[in-house]
Amino acid sequence: MDIVVSGIRSTGNLHLGNYFGAVRNFVKMQHENKCFFFIADYHSLTTHPKPEDLQGNIKQVLSEFLACGIDPEMATVFVQSDVPEVAELYLLLNMNAYVGELQRTASFKEKIRKQPDNINAGLLTYPVLMAADIIIHKANKVPVGKDQEQHLEMTRRFARRFNSMYGVNYFPEPEAYNFGSRLIKIPGLDGSGKMGKSEGNGIFLSDPPEEIRKKVMRAVTDSGPVEPNQKMPVPIKNLFTIMGVVSEPSTVKHFREKYASCEIRYGEMKKQLAEDIIRFISPVREKILAISSDDRYLAKVMKEGAEKARASASATVRDVKEIIGYRKMF
Ligand code: TRP
Repeated sequence: MDIVVSGIRSTGNLHLGNYFGAVRNFVKMQHENKCFFFIADYHSLTTHPKPEDLQGNIKQVLSEFLACGIDPEMATVFVQSDVPEVAELYLLLNMNAYVGELQRTASFKEKIRKQPDNINAGLLTYPVLMAADIIIHKANKVPVGKDQEQHLEMTRRFARRFNSMYGVNYFPEPEAYNFGSRLIKIPGLDGSGKMGKSEGNGIFLSDPPEEIRKKVMRAVTDSGPVEPNQKMPVPIKNLFTIMGVVSEPSTVKHFREKYASCEIRYGEMKKQLAEDIIRFISPVREKILAISSDDRYLAKVMKEGAEKARASASATVRDVKEIIGYRKMF
């Protein structure tokens, strides 16, 4: 059985792409592994959110993950800032992380470009905090996307460095758990790449029906095929991909035939697609609403999650302090 840790950005509301991608895999993984899933709300401070937004986002993201089937009875689900041991391990790891290597991190260089007037030390040490999140539970598997691979590489380096510095074999070196081809990639509605929050091309699980209709009707198409069985341009293929996961097979077949015979009307196809997305999302959206308005349930999940996570984290910090040389005097 693997120990799995994954952090979820507290700023990211879930969209259809997440639903068919990482979230599905988290839900599957929790059955076979010891999973720790947490909301990375310390990390989110690097962008200076307003106090009222910070709390709201945590609640929303947690509700969305629970609504999608992450089960707090199976996985340890918690909020990062409820586990102060993470901050302590982060402090200790910072002493063995070199400014040079942190400055060379791709994500840091990108932040310098994107937010030149807020290059805080938290951004520089972001990979150290992420390493603390992971190794504090001695995880050996971390499900992350491509954009996080360098951070994971640094986590391995920090773990290795600690071990060799103190001549111990304490931290395992965690591997990326790459879902790869098992992920269904959901494209965005803008005719280009995949669906993403920052791309502004997403349909969110909490979008109300009207919003979904608007977004789908605005999706990029073209002027239509001019000869039978013409090769499909990417924006149209994208609509069919989304249709493939939310609509009945007979619906997909109907519009494919219309496309092949050049009789397709994109307006009609989009109307159908919007309704099918709404039908698909509705039960999840209702669950999100129910969970997010149940503060007692959320509080219980957070409290129990924090207790389980702290039990695991405090044991590690205790060991680490002893290895470093702190001796208990009382
Ligand atoms: N940096 C990750 C992201 O932006 C979030 C994260 C924080 C994380 N701590 C983690 C992911 C630990 C995996 C493990 O998506």
